Amino acid sequence: MPSEVKERTRDGSIRTDGAYRGYDLRLQATDNRPEALELLLTGPGTPMNEYFRRYWQPVCLSEQLTDVPKAVRILHEDLVAFRDRSGQVGVLHRRCAHRGTSLEFGIVSEHGIRCCYHGWLYDVDGTILETPCEPAESRLKQTVCQGAYPAFERDGLVFAYLGPPDTQPKFEVFDGYVLPEGTKLVPFSNEFACNWLQVYENLIDHYHTAILHNNMTVEGVDAALAAGASFSGGWTELPVIRWEATHGGNGIIFTAGRRVSDTKVWVRISELGFPNWAQNASLAPSAARLRHTAVAMTRWQVPVDDTNSIAFGWRHFNDEVDPDHVGCEADCGVDRIDFLIGQTRHRPYDEQQRIPGDYEAITTQGAGGVAIHQLEHPGRSDVGVYMCRSLLRDALRGKAAPDPTRLRSEADTGDSLPRYTSDTVLEVPRLGDADADRQLIQETANTVLAVLKEAEGLSSAERRKHVLRRLDEIDGGLRPDGDSRE
Ligand code: FES
Ligand SMILES: [Fe+2]
Repeated sequence: MPSEVKERTRDGSIRTDGAYRGYDLRLQATDNRPEALELLLTGPGTPMNEYFRRYWQPVCLSEQLTDVPKAVRILHEDLVAFRDRSGQVGVLHRRCAHRGTSLEFGIVSEHGIRCCYHGWLYDVDGTILETPCEPAESRLKQTVCQGAYPAFERDGLVFAYLGPPDTQPKFEVFDGYVLPEGTKLVPFSNEFACNWLQVYENLIDHYHTAILHNNMTVEGVDAALAAGASFSGGWTELPVIRWEATHGGNGIIFTAGRRVSDTKVWVRISELGFPNWAQNASLAPSAARLRHTAVAMTRWQVPVDDTNSIAFGWRHFNDEVDPDHVGCEADCGVDRIDFLIGQTRHRPYDEQQRIPGDYEAITTQGAGGVAIHQLEHPGRSDVGVYMCRSLLRDALRGKAAPDPTRLRSEADTGDSLPRYTSDTVLEVPRLGDADADRQLIQETANTVLAVLKEAEGLSSAERRKHVLRRLDEIDGGLRPDGDSRE
């Protein structure tokens, strides 16, 4: 007997309310709509593929460039990365221009890389230096080249520009890369068996930190292991969050305010810069007690294809963002990260089930590694994710204003560029009424963000001094109406 869906809404979709609705709901659509696919599809010829190619993208870690070439796949494209013996970095198309042998079996040479099959030698820019089997008068060297992309190394990451040569931007250097003095950037990668977007969205989906990273474990789990999957020191509070478009609509931030005692409020700010850059503030419990600390992690979520992506990034180590030295440089590297277990795919299934982390939550959204947006049922806590998608779509379609950060980078003053990522703790006595107190927490967050914005026009040397001075002035003086008593 043919099955029939009895209850449909007026627009023909299946009703999603009620009880024991499994029989009908199994027939819900499993494909994304075009406006979602616009962000999810990253293959050749798609708008997202071109968007990613307008920015420098990490393609591997420096430690992966050894005496043999490194095969990488980025943006659906097979490439080979290497550092020749003179120290130059090359990122080339993987198939040899001669007759297609993979250069992952090539020989890293003094200058460039030599194909193993007939010995064509390519410089890092793809020009042919030698064709040893050809007669001396051969003009092949002048008429053929290997596809190549500009590349450089910085603090253990290998970046490449995969876009048109005439739109190659400068690499943007943000404050957190160089400040505070003594900052050490430690590279890492983190491979996800899913579409790039759901990993990227996780960074703006801050409510999950109070749930997923708060001992969401079944009974009987080893306590030390469970603790390793959970943040501590204020994270257990559900935050008061506000999201805001930044940089002309080319990014989004959230401010997350939490009351951490009867007298203190902790304001955390994280940000995304489109298409795939992000920064997080502190990953240590000290975040909820220190006056003002900045960046703990920078990352780029790079598509491999539509069901695999890699987070490449830096963990930022300095005494300011992690004075108790909770982080561990040695635990960062290729598909390894030092905070919160549950970030990578390298765990036994039983442990994944008992102590799920970001990896399990993110990669299992949707079917086959791709979240199905139209099957989601978003609530108020999802406003940031939906804002993010909308802003990203507008930026992709060219509707955002020119990114002022990028314009400043191109102007190249030699100074690093401001961002908002930070943790701030201010003295703000609790109000008796819970709703009024939440309002006060939000106003505190607004004030902190306003202070950071005030400092944007200053030099990097002046920015931090200005912010700390203003926070000192404000501390303890916030009132329910949002004014300070200065
Ligand atoms: S296939 Fe590479 S040199 Fe012939
Ligand atoms: Fe998380």
